[in-house]
Amino acid sequence: MTVKIDGKAVAASIRAELKVEADRIKKEKGDEICLAVVLVGDNPASHVYVRLKEKACHEAGFISVQHTLPKEISMEELLSLIERLNNDPKVNGILVQLPLPAHLDESKVLDRIDVDKDVDGFHPLNVGLLSQKLAKLMPCTPAGCVELLDRYHIPIEGSHAVIVGRSNIVGKPVAVMLIHRNATVTICHSRSKNLAQITSQADILVAAIGKPNFITRDMVKEGAAVIDVGTTKVGNNIVGDVDYANVYDKAGWITPVPGGVGPMTIAMLMYNTMMAYKIQRKLLV
Ligand code: GUN
Repeated sequence: MTVKIDGKAVAASIRAELKVEADRIKKEKGDEICLAVVLVGDNPASHVYVRLKEKACHEAGFISVQHTLPKEISMEELLSLIERLNNDPKVNGILVQLPLPAHLDESKVLDRIDVDKDVDGFHPLNVGLLSQKLAKLMPCTPAGCVELLDRYHIPIEGSHAVIVGRSNIVGKPVAVMLIHRNATVTICHSRSKNLAQITSQADILVAAIGKPNFITRDMVKEGAAVIDVGTTKVGNNIVGDVDYANVYDKAGWITPVPGGVGPMTIAMLMYNTMMAYKIQRKLLV
């Protein structure tokens, strides 16, 4: 029987665990965990994501400060805001919502975020630390995928994990995390040959390619854990990378879209913000 992975429920319990911790910190130390979110321009999807992040912060007893900037803002103005947030001791985490308007240099902006406040885990130093198994702040969506596997007791060690997609945000970091958990990892992408042959060997299949319904039933091994990271807007619906209806009963475990990985990204962002607070207060051993 297939297990439907309920990312919404797992995310809610992570947020509840973080709320208990945030309440205790406030009571014992008088500190409030604070996330600063920077949103540039008027990308409708970005506005939706930022609203969800803000709501999750408030529900967990965190403070969320949103900086909404016009799309014409200059690089200098944006970098000076980041500098201000870096230097503000009350701000524990900084998230610059991507994508940025084309005239702004994304990697220069991400480089400028204080490494210890980089709750997205996108700063090159944190990327490097991740590859050495030393990172404390790891990218939220990949961390959410691994957390789902763990909470559903899906064996990672010794399994063959196939990742479809090689992005810096999902494909590459999730591959690194699964290698560190002793999986055998294969990364496929749009130029891979014999894709179906490779994906159908996966015990864990992570689809992060951004093509709706791309993973079809014939590409999935019987009993595999299928983790769908895709979120493409098709009409009024959000559609995953996996042809869920047809893959469902062949999989051992499967995440729905929506309600799978998406809510986990936000929960792991909150987790990282708490982690950033502990790094800054030197509370980690
Ligand atoms: N845009 C889409 N996904 C993400 C993410 O994980 N972090 C940020 N900052 N922007 C995004």
